[in-house]
Amino acid sequence: MQISLQVNGERVDAQVLPRMNLADFLREQLHLTGTHVGCEHGVCGACTVRVDGEIVRACLMLAVQAHGASVQTIEGLSDSGEVADLQAAFRDRNALQCGYCTPGMLMAAQDLLTQKVEASREDIREHLSGNYCRCTGYQAIIDAVEATARHRKGLRP
Ligand code: FES
Ligand code: FES
Repeated sequence: MQISLQVNGERVDAQVLPRMNLADFLREQLHLTGTHVGCEHGVCGACTVRVDGEIVRACLMLAVQAHGASVQTIEGLSDSGEVADLQAAFRDRNALQCGYCTPGMLMAAQDLLTQKVEASREDIREHLSGNYCRCTGYQAIIDAVEATARHRKGLRP
């Protein structure tokens, strides 16, 4: 099937199989491999991307469903500098080890901070509860997001 969409601000026209999911389309056809695939059934959050401003599980969405949509991946958020402070906080606070969960964590954390910059640790925990990390034990990730929230509010991290 023929689809047209925006990906990270650029128009993409592509032929896809009807059953191809959005994560595979981004990774295999567009080579945007920052979107990771873990569980492939909506549990781990590694495949989180933004579609028309909302974060979604790209493994649970068909590529054809993204026809006409605006999709942003971690590459787009990273290249634009939108999450530069979050990325720096993740580095500074050792909030990543293998990095497999990190793109999805950054997408979810940025989603929270754009909605609620005064997010509490509890808010952060809840918002990231659909993103699994097998390495860090989560505390460092919560610390990094909290530090970014405080920084964005103009406070010392
Ligand atoms: S790969 Fe999509 S939620 Fe795990
Ligand atoms: S850093 Fe390895 S899964 Fe999170």
